[in-house]
Amino acid sequence: MIQLPYEANALEPVISKETLGFHHGKHLQGYVNNLNAAIVGTEFENMPLEDIVKKAEGGMLNNAGQTLNHNLYFTQFCAPEADNKPVGAIAELIEKQFGSFDAFKEEFAKKGATLFGSGWVWLSIDTEGKLVITQETNAGNPVQRGLKPLLTFDVWEHAYYLDYQNRRPDHIAALWQIVDWNVVNQRL
Ligand SMILES: [Fe+2]
Repeated sequence: MIQLPYEANALEPVISKETLGFHHGKHLQGYVNNLNAAIVGTEFENMPLEDIVKKAEGGMLNNAGQTLNHNLYFTQFCAPEADNKPVGAIAELIEKQFGSFDAFKEEFAKKGATLFGSGWVWLSIDTEGKLVITQETNAGNPVQRGLKPLLTFDVWEHAYYLDYQNRRPDHIAALWQIVDWNVVNQRL
């Protein structure tokens, strides 16, 4: 179980302390507990989490996927900044491939808003160094497609319902203020 690398109110008002408390303390803790119980005595017991996500099926995959997804999600944020934008290598890649940060945000937000039901929108990089935006339903993670995940927005309702109710696009629009682009660069 990962600890949050910031205070529980550090992301307000984009993500409230209450949402963060439930999301990290209840939802993620639940996935971690289920996974830890399920791996006992199986080939997955001492396997790195990413390998479990690549190899497991059924309930094991769901809990491992959600653990990996949330680990990446919670560790990519920082205190809000109205004019927050990419820096360094990821800024150059986004500019080169999408034309501008605004064009990238638009495509990413559209994929997040149009994902039906529960899931995640991801920015990843492929083995040839090309950026890829994908939608993954439920517990899906880009490592299952051979991609390296860089950034993700959780579009399960539990990620935003207390703060934004049904307004998923508003939540997605606000999240850009808290993306820690230094972390994204470290993941490249
Ligand atoms: Fe979540």
